[in-house]
Amino acid sequence: MEGPRLSSSSLLFWLAVCMLSLAPNKLVLGLDPNNPGYISIDCGALNNYTNPDLQIYYETDDGYIDSGEKKQVSSDDMGKGFRASAKTLREFPDGVRNCYTIPPTTTTSNKGSTKYLIRASFYYGNYDNQNRTMKFDLYIGVNYWTTVDFSDPGSYIHKEIIHVVPPTEDAIQVCLVNTGNGTPLISSLELRQLAGTMYPSDDQFPTLALHKRINMGNTAYESMFRHPSDLYDRLWDVDDTDDGGAQSWAWNGPSPPALNRTNDAYKVPRGVLETFIMMENSYDLSLFWKAHVPRASKWISYLHFAELEDVSSPREFTIYCNDVFLKTISLDYLVPITVPTNQFTSDIGFKFKFVTNSSSYVSSPPPIVNAIELYYLLDISTIPTDLNDVNAMKGTKRAYNVTNKSWQGDPCVPTNFTWDGVKCSTENPPRITSLNLSSYGLKGKIADALANLTALISLDLSSNQLTGPIPELLAKLPNLNILNLSGNNLTGPIPESLQKKIIDGKLELRVADNPYLCLEDSCKPKKKRNSFVVPVIAVGSGLIVILSIALAIIWTLLMKKGKGQEGTIKLKNRPFTYNEVLKITDHFKTVIGKGGFGMVCLGTLANSTNVAVKMLSQTSKQGRKEFQAEAELLMIVHHRNLVSLVGYCDDAKNMALIYELMENGNLRQHLSDQSCNAQVLTWNERLRIAIDAAQGLDYLHNGCKPPIIHRDLKTLNILLNKSMQAKIADFGLSKAFAAENDSNISTRPAGTPGYLDPEYQSSGSLNMKSDVYSFGVILFELITGHPAMIRSASCSIHILQWVTPIIERRDIHSIVDPRLAGKFSVNSAWKMVEIAMSCVPTTAVMRPDISHVLAELKECWAIEMASERSQVIMMRQKT
Ligand SMILES: *[C@@H]1O[C@H](CO)[C@@H](O)[C@H](O)[C@H]1NC(C)=O
Ligand SMILES: *[C@@H]1O[C@H](CO)[C@@H](O)[C@H](O)[C@H]1NC(C)=O
Ligand SMILES: *[C@@H]1O[C@H](CO)[C@@H](O)[C@H](O)[C@H]1NC(C)=O
Ligand SMILES: *[C@@H]1O[C@H](CO)[C@@H](O)[C@H](O)[C@H]1NC(C)=O
Ligand SMILES: *[C@@H]1O[C@H](CO)[C@@H](O)[C@H](O)[C@H]1NC(C)=O
Ligand SMILES: *[C@@H]1O[C@H](CO)[C@@H](O)[C@H](O)[C@H]1NC(C)=O
Ligand SMILES: *[C@@H]1O[C@H](CO)[C@@H](O)[C@H](O)[C@H]1NC(C)=O
Ligand SMILES: *[C@@H]1O[C@H](CO)[C@@H](O)[C@H](O)[C@H]1NC(C)=O
Ligand SMILES: *[C@@H]1O[C@H](CO)[C@@H](O)[C@H](O)[C@H]1NC(C)=O
Ligand SMILES: *[C@@H]1O[C@H](CO)[C@@H](O)[C@H](O)[C@H]1NC(C)=O
Repeated sequence: MEGPRLSSSSLLFWLAVCMLSLAPNKLVLGLDPNNPGYISIDCGALNNYTNPDLQIYYETDDGYIDSGEKKQVSSDDMGKGFRASAKTLREFPDGVRNCYTIPPTTTTSNKGSTKYLIRASFYYGNYDNQNRTMKFDLYIGVNYWTTVDFSDPGSYIHKEIIHVVPPTEDAIQVCLVNTGNGTPLISSLELRQLAGTMYPSDDQFPTLALHKRINMGNTAYESMFRHPSDLYDRLWDVDDTDDGGAQSWAWNGPSPPALNRTNDAYKVPRGVLETFIMMENSYDLSLFWKAHVPRASKWISYLHFAELEDVSSPREFTIYCNDVFLKTISLDYLVPITVPTNQFTSDIGFKFKFVTNSSSYVSSPPPIVNAIELYYLLDISTIPTDLNDVNAMKGTKRAYNVTNKSWQGDPCVPTNFTWDGVKCSTENPPRITSLNLSSYGLKGKIADALANLTALISLDLSSNQLTGPIPELLAKLPNLNILNLSGNNLTGPIPESLQKKIIDGKLELRVADNPYLCLEDSCKPKKKRNSFVVPVIAVGSGLIVILSIALAIIWTLLMKKGKGQEGTIKLKNRPFTYNEVLKITDHFKTVIGKGGFGMVCLGTLANSTNVAVKMLSQTSKQGRKEFQAEAELLMIVHHRNLVSLVGYCDDAKNMALIYELMENGNLRQHLSDQSCNAQVLTWNERLRIAIDAAQGLDYLHNGCKPPIIHRDLKTLNILLNKSMQAKIADFGLSKAFAAENDSNISTRPAGTPGYLDPEYQSSGSLNMKSDVYSFGVILFELITGHPAMIRSASCSIHILQWVTPIIERRDIHSIVDPRLAGKFSVNSAWKMVEIAMSCVPTTAVMRPDISHVLAELKECWAIEMASERSQVIMMRQKT
């Protein structure tokens, strides 16, 4: 051993380099066979090459990134030795976040995780002749890593972490984030797989960011050790710290015999261990580093020791870290050891003390330190997006060659970098719930990868140039609620499975402006329609009652037959442009009503059919959803007692639904019309209306699978056509029954006071029986002529509160609408009251199914018919 010597270590380095250049170069392009677990990317390089000094194979970065531009530095001092990879760089003038995506090599540890040393290097080299300074952020995946600060344009910056890639991630992403302080750039990216036993190996492996890795005792800048001296290609910095008066030393004389590395996982290069610091004749060595790293709160350090002199008595000393006892060690000749510290906190720096035990003063040489590594723990608590979603988005990006600048790195997180058009849930890991690629210039087929986004609720592919059929696969997305395919050039029919979701009320599908898409029944082989010929019966007076009942039975049969037919989907309606809407309504000339959403105008189609055009007023925000819900339902639900949709208009600004015209308005207006010359609805008409409405509702409940709940049945929503046939309207609030258990669909309060199921009001649970309750209220309105809420100057009471005491008095003439002036059969009136009563128990389970109500009403109708006939007969007999 000799005194302080500054240049001995540099000699060692050059020796190492010489030996290297003698080694034969057997590296193969495309792989780095001599260095398994190495991935070396020379950013901006034009060719792959092997660096002979380092014996490392460098690849171009083409396969790892699809943004940025290649540049070459203007300084000539680059290009040699271990700085060769700094000669070129990639700059990122566009986009906030740009990411390298690196699939790890296949060798994984037993837990399926892979531990990597990841080093990013940056050299500006005045490549743009701007001599600029810059500052940008570096992210490892979705977590902040560090800030690269080029306050000196000449600096060569390395950032290094030790990071474990869990088996749930299939790629490492390194992202450069433009924070508005200059265009980011990068010179190289190097990954070195580490042994699982090196550095902490817990399950909860922390990501360690390197603060310093110092080759103690080496002050010569030209002798920075790395590969091939270091198996793991760590960069061992020169010792430029304040060593508190300690001197730098190097082991003297010819090389001692080989090191015993049996228990040495860290494999610190021999050259690094050959220098050290020590205070001559002192048994108390202190080291201090000032360190303030923003966002770093927990630290961990690795201290490396090796005795390369065969001393008579082993070196033995105790280590303190920030004044806390760490360990007492004894160095065995030629056996390197590494002592990790515990995790500790520090705001100002680290103090290490190495003290020889007083009992050992006489025999033990003074303490030494050969190398030190200082790391801080990175906060990597942000969890990346679900891997399947990430892969599906990558597949989508590839399928359509999406070059949007924001499509870099993780699709969802951090939230200020979420990809354009993507919306995510806040769960962990985040899921992609909405994808809006409207007007993205997408070409080709609808990508299969989209069907792998299994958490999607909304998918908007409108206004692109998509071709081919609508894939059946999309129906497999369990939560998909909105699918907008309008404005493309799709072909073929709408797949059955999607149609089913529409019927089930689970999906809103928009397909407008796909001229070759087939919405007609003609796409499918037509089902033969059974035609029932209702026999014309010559009515003899004596047989009338029997015949009437028989008619009712035939009618019931017909209805049952018809149901199957009407349950099949017919997308007969067609899209209208706003201009067409203007034309058919003659610029909204005739307003025939006003709905909850906006005005209703009279329209005339080219074939001179009159229609009602319901416009969604542009101020109605909430309305748009309900409006669309109604349109989607009406597109697929067809029944003679449901108002049918002729067409719709849905462009960015205007929405309109075009219905068959219901000339006679709504039922409420007929029941409340008090003017003397008004046509009072006859009892017979009221019965017919009740039966029509019950049929419509029966279709919704029992003809549709799963059942559809109307949710807002009321006399205002029962419309009458020219021949006084009643049809149910206003599907804005309707929901498919099966969807009700789906927590994704909010069950916001619905309906209208007076008609609302009391059980629903209190419990919020909604079922078909809620519609039955509303229907019962409608029956009472038909019977009494009163509205659901009877208002007087001072108060208002519910129709049930009003009618119940009168029913109890059994005063049928006070119950039935006085405007009928007694023109009804008492029997059928009582029957109707009974049916109505059966619909309105407070407890839902006590209410009958609408099919039962319908059957009862038909019976009631038969009674009425029989009674009318018998009256006619009686009158005849009188005359
Ligand atoms: C560089 O090597 C990679 C494989 O490691 C290969 O895909 C790529 O084509 C090569 N690039 C050039 C420019 O030879
Ligand atoms: C580049 O800028 C630095 C300060 O940022 C300055 O010291 C240096 O002289 C400049 N070099 C050139 C060539 O302009
Ligand atoms: C190497 O060191 C270990 C203990 O660390 C010891 O058991 C072993 O015998 C040593 N090997 C040699 C060849 O000295
Ligand atoms: C050295 O000193 C420390 C505390 O001062 C003590 O815990 C340790 O046992 C001592 N080691 C030996 C080998 O005496
Ligand atoms: C993808 O887009 C880029 C940039 O617009 C273009 O250069 C490239 O040729 C496109 N690739 C394909 C496969 O369409
Ligand atoms: C992203 O958001 C974080 C905190 O929400 C903020 O600190 C950071 O500056 C933002 N980054 C960019 C590039 O906007
Ligand atoms: C998709 O984005 C367009 C505008 O880019 C917007 O008009 C449309 O409403 C969005 N779709 C959905 C489902 O949010
Ligand atoms: C692409 O991304 C930018 C933001 O990065 C956004 O403003 C733009 O609307 C996006 N869409 C398309 C189709 O380019
Ligand atoms: C969808 O995901 C499965 C399973 O992850 C995968 O096998 C399949 O290739 C993916 N499909 C597409 C088109 O990406
Ligand atoms: C749309 O598709 C049809 C049939 O596949 C084709 O004839 C037509 O040219 C396409 N139109 C556009 C604008 O691509």
